[in-house]
Amino acid sequence: MKFFLDTANLREIREVSSWGILDGVTTNPSLLAKENAPFEELVRAICEACPGPVSLECVSAQGPDIVAEARGLAKKAPNVVVKIPITLEGLRATKILAGEGIGVNMTLVFSPTQALLAAKAGARFVSPFIGRLDDISEEGMGLVEEIVRIYENYRFPTEVIVASIRHPRHVVEAALLGADICTIPFGVIEKLVGHPLTDAGIEKFLRDWAKVRA
Ligand code: G3P
Repeated sequence: MKFFLDTANLREIREVSSWGILDGVTTNPSLLAKENAPFEELVRAICEACPGPVSLECVSAQGPDIVAEARGLAKKAPNVVVKIPITLEGLRATKILAGEGIGVNMTLVFSPTQALLAAKAGARFVSPFIGRLDDISEEGMGLVEEIVRIYENYRFPTEVIVASIRHPRHVVEAALLGADICTIPFGVIEKLVGHPLTDAGIEKFLRDWAKVRA
């Protein structure tokens, strides 16, 4: 499973990169707005800090505008992937961009039919937002399960990015389902390593080691 970081925060990206487990970054307008930094400079720094795919979101609504915006974003760095919300206009744009070799991350996906259409249009990634489904008492992970099965049935190469992750259990369940990627907020990714029994074990070993004669 690949781990992407769901953030536009450079400190977080550099920190997780130093752990040796960072495969990519996903941003969105809300995450970028939190950084309060000039867009161009921030994007350049993020794309340098993370050599893997970096998703930048298009905000245009009409097909030709989405295509023009996406081409501009894709020029910013070789590892840029353009994030496009799943709409009919977004699908049209995806087909064109995929034909030009520009990677598309089809986002704001909440149903298996949306995911199927994204794959047919040639999206490189699809992003089901599971936490937001859980938030309205739906089963976010059920959607991931359906998408993974559909893609396997037809051998679509589109990779599933499990997005809107809220806690470590989401990561475990996504991995059990064989999802390709989790895009994880920093607050969740730092929780993945810790276990109280590991801490207690280290403490005991150190206490006992102190009793060993040199
Ligand atoms: O990558 C998608 C993610 O940023 C959305 O997360 O927590 O706003 O639902 P959230």
